[in-house]
Amino acid sequence: MKKNPGHMDVSAGNSNNTKQFQSEEYKQEFMVRHNYPVCFTRDLFSPRNPLLASILDRFKEGRKYRAAVFVDSGVAKAHPSLMSRIEKYFKARKEMELAFAPVTVPGGEKAKRGWKHVKEIMRLLNDHHLCRHSYVAAIGGGAVLDMVGFASSIVHRGLRVVRVPTTVLAQNDAGVGVKNGIDDYGAKNFAGTFSPPFAVLNDFNFLHTLSGKEWKGGIAEAFKVAIIKDREFLEFLCENAVALGKRDLPLMEKMIRRCAILHLEHIRNSGDPFESGSARPLDFGHWSAHRMEVASNYRIGHGQAVAVGIALDSFYAMRLGLLSRQEFQMIIEALAASGLPLWYGLLEKRGEGGRLDILEGLGQFQEHLGGGLSITLPQGLGKKCDVHRIEEGIVEEAVRYFKDLGQGQPFSH
Ligand SMILES: NC(=O)c1ccc[n+]([C@@H]2O[C@H](COP(=O)([O-])OP(=O)(O)OC[C@H]3O[C@@H](n4cnc5c(N)ncnc54)[C@H](O)[C@@H]3O)[C@@H](O)[C@H]2O)c1
Ligand SMILES: [Zn+2]
Repeated sequence: MKKNPGHMDVSAGNSNNTKQFQSEEYKQEFMVRHNYPVCFTRDLFSPRNPLLASILDRFKEGRKYRAAVFVDSGVAKAHPSLMSRIEKYFKARKEMELAFAPVTVPGGEKAKRGWKHVKEIMRLLNDHHLCRHSYVAAIGGGAVLDMVGFASSIVHRGLRVVRVPTTVLAQNDAGVGVKNGIDDYGAKNFAGTFSPPFAVLNDFNFLHTLSGKEWKGGIAEAFKVAIIKDREFLEFLCENAVALGKRDLPLMEKMIRRCAILHLEHIRNSGDPFESGSARPLDFGHWSAHRMEVASNYRIGHGQAVAVGIALDSFYAMRLGLLSRQEFQMIIEALAASGLPLWYGLLEKRGEGGRLDILEGLGQFQEHLGGGLSITLPQGLGKKCDVHRIEEGIVEEAVRYFKDLGQGQPFSH
């Protein structure tokens, strides 16, 4: 074998007994650069909006761009002309074509529960001969983006995915990152890939049709990232919590931009975009949130579960002296003011032996991330630290605290 500069002889020892195990190592190393645009627009499928066409032509390949389009059923229902507008948009441009008419996929967590819809998408991509240079556009909430993105990332080892997030949470978090996945074996995102999109197109016009729950859910992810990374943004959220919850669109657009950028900056600058280490700051508040979603059979939305998870972990941080009582109070009052919950009855559920059921979330979280337990907590406002064990007694205290607080309050659920 030709030896490279990094070549090493690896010997299992010099004795005659181990000579037969001498081996040779060739060090392989390369870097892959990823880049993708995250754009903010309105009315993406207006005949006069050039954004999608210019995105498909990003590499100036001068060819016909083939695409498959999958639309969240909730979005298709709320925007009855969307499917025909997509068809018209493609028909009006000779450099683009649809491989088949846009298809709806079930919206919400059921999209990503198990493999059923993944297989349906794979079958369509196969039947219509999409190749690695073809495009898959996924239009919908975080669940549909996760599932369609996952299916498209494994067909031919990855097609070009254009995400069009349609909820607050998808536009400020789920849609802008590098992860896809589906739920299986009772665990969120059990199967999935790290696969950066080709582009992300955030169209604010989709937000008009969101239900109250979906509108508010995304505010929780903004609190999450602000509390651990950006004090100024947190102050903005606290000052505007009521207006944000009451559907102030200009404020919401401002919030989505800042939150999406904070997520993008973290992925770009953390040194660990594909999360090979154990720490995962963007999952602050998530160890219990994922457990609550599963235990409620997904009746509790991701954003709502994250709000409760943030409340619990902020209490925990206060008890460790990482947050002052006043800082803790500021967080939970603002979460509640924006219409997010701080309590669900299932927090009290206990498993065998009387252990709080949510504590099962710790082990699942650790297994998903790999390595030792690592939980991100705020350390002052806008800063974070990681802890490697959780005192179950303090979690018990937090649960009691929010139960008492919630009694008779509007944020009791
Ligand atoms: N990949 C990631 O990095 C990442 C990050 C955060 C969250 N997530 C995942 O995202 C999912 C949650 O996403 P979500 O909060 O966007 O909710 P969702 O995808 O579950 O959608 C919620 C509901 O809103 C409907 N909907 C979507 N857009 C609409 C619109 N414009 N008008 C009317 N109805 C609309 C859907 O049909 C659905 O019924 C979870 O599965 C979570 O695990 C992924
Ligand atoms: Zn989340």
